[in-house]
Amino acid sequence: KGSSTNEPESNTEALIATLPTREGWSTPLTLYNNCWLRSHMLRRFMAVRDNFKPRRDDIILATHPKSGTTWLKALAFTISTRSRCDFTDSPLLTNNPQRVVPFIGAMGGDLDVLETLPSPRLLATHLPPSLLPPAVSTVGCRVVYLCREPKDAFVSRWHFDNKMGKGGAPITLDDAFNMFCEGVSPFGPFWDHYLQYWKESLARPQEVMFLKYEEIVSDPLTVVRKLASFLDVPFTEEEEKSGVVDQVVSFCSFESLRNLDVNKTGGAERAGGKIFIQHSSLFRKGKVGDWVNHMSNEMGEKMDRLVEEKFKGTGLEF
Ligand code: A3P
Repeated sequence: KGSSTNEPESNTEALIATLPTREGWSTPLTLYNNCWLRSHMLRRFMAVRDNFKPRRDDIILATHPKSGTTWLKALAFTISTRSRCDFTDSPLLTNNPQRVVPFIGAMGGDLDVLETLPSPRLLATHLPPSLLPPAVSTVGCRVVYLCREPKDAFVSRWHFDNKMGKGGAPITLDDAFNMFCEGVSPFGPFWDHYLQYWKESLARPQEVMFLKYEEIVSDPLTVVRKLASFLDVPFTEEEEKSGVVDQVVSFCSFESLRNLDVNKTGGAERAGGKIFIQHSSLFRKGKVGDWVNHMSNEMGEKMDRLVEEKFKGTGLEF
């Protein structure tokens, strides 16, 4: 007879054995709860819904991958720690932004480690709301969501996947494109990810702020002000007068972060040691519309039609 203490574990394993898996990206993906997760991270991410304990004053930076997570982490971290450290002693001068804000359940964000962090916690996730504990939406913690025009998000994903130190053959642009449009990409389908957070932001605008990469690029000062107010640390009149908002924007800008030694030469193991990420690969071009340099017009049109069809009637547009 099996011991009852092992039952939940064997139930999980039995469930995992039934889940669809796809190869093609830098690591295999498994479909869980309508979301494609990196297979070797599956158990960790499955545990988040049951074991992550959100606190009322948590701030969660939720992003679709390749939408500017690194940038949002730098901005939110700089805004929320500015009373403790200024631009000359910021931990961002010596740490990649990914490091200063842990991912829930991954990369420095093991669930028992998160328990030990003092409040208010600044956390990050790529998981959609359906894979987070329901308490995230009931205890009142704040979520900042960031996504990006899908063609640019795709091109950024394709480059990044091919830079990951996994040692296999690179994925071709065509194969990557077909999988992305089929919804098979890390944390995809992308449209479900965007729409889940979009609906949350419409239902609870005080708690869920919805941002697009393009919006930050076109008016970073406005977004940084909005973000500070949303995080309950609005800029004071004195800070406005002395140019602190501009300083936050320029400190976290692509050029400024990319040129720091830690981001030029450093790197880190990610995803359970399965892949090695060079910090420099998190700062590729930082441009809006770079898709035209990689995708054909036909591909662009196909993706636009898909986006139109998926987002029709939702109010979300790109
Ligand atoms: P590109 O590949 O188009 O250059 P993520 O951090 O979610 O992985 O997203 C990475 C994308 O954000 C990359 O896009 C990267 O260059 C861009 N990026 C990183 N830091 C940035 C910054 N400070 N400002 C603007 N874009 C940034």
